[in-house]
Amino acid sequence: MSDEVRPPRTAVVIPAAGRGVRLGPGAPKALRTLNGTPMLIHAVRAMAASRAVSLVVVVAPHDGAAEVKNLLDAHALPERTDYLVVPGGDTRQESVRLGLEALPEGITTVLVHDAARPLVPVDTVDAVIEAVRDGAVAVVPALPVADTVKEVEPAEKPGGPEQVVATPVRARLRAVQTPQGFDHDTLVNAHATIALTGEGATDDAGMVERLGAPVVVVPGHEEAFKVTRPLDLVLAEAVLARRRANDGF
Ligand code: CTP
Ligand code: MG
Repeated sequence: MSDEVRPPRTAVVIPAAGRGVRLGPGAPKALRTLNGTPMLIHAVRAMAASRAVSLVVVVAPHDGAAEVKNLLDAHALPERTDYLVVPGGDTRQESVRLGLEALPEGITTVLVHDAARPLVPVDTVDAVIEAVRDGAVAVVPALPVADTVKEVEPAEKPGGPEQVVATPVRARLRAVQTPQGFDHDTLVNAHATIALTGEGATDDAGMVERLGAPVVVVPGHEEAFKVTRPLDLVLAEAVLARRRANDGF
């Protein structure tokens, strides 16, 4: 190891502190396994696959930081990638903020990536980083939506009929994914300035929009889908099986 310490410049914050209520009973979502490996490990590897990423900050379930640290120690990462584990908060927004606070000096580009999107390809990660390095302050990978989307007045009790308020033109809509990429200071400023009640922000780029800063979309990838409900576990394992078959194992 050289004595000269060069600070890493691109870091990824991985919020992984959610419970995964929609996935049903079981371990916290990020610790559930896909083909025997915890989803979080797949997600960390997906980020570390990018040569530009030198630090990964994992935001662990509040009482699970030690367990997550052990998991990361037990699974090999590339030599060039450092990692840190910090305990998370009650909302995703809070967890991301706690991850940002753990970043060392000298980071200029920050990615935020859901642990629940374990299979994003490295080309998508690199495209986001490149767009930030080319000067965008906030970059979001996204796909056109397949379904027509209606805006409604949400029913008071779940399952009740809901009044439709609007039908946005589908061709103008995009479903956003992660990793989202940011100029470091812009994202930290957004998290310091924007306070949302209740669930908090589920989308970091949305917070930057509220600052009035420009946000751009780049093409996302169908394999960057979020594991949310039980059927998504089936899809994720099918994607892994297809990759293994294509790799010739
Ligand atoms: N997350 C987090 N801290 C929270 C809530 C969510 O770090 N307090 C993370 C999740 O671990 C996940 C990402 O934010 O990687 C996206 O959130 P989501 O898919 O909603 O995951 P959960 O909140 O775990 O799932 P659910 O909403 O079904 O409980
Ligand atoms: Mg959630």
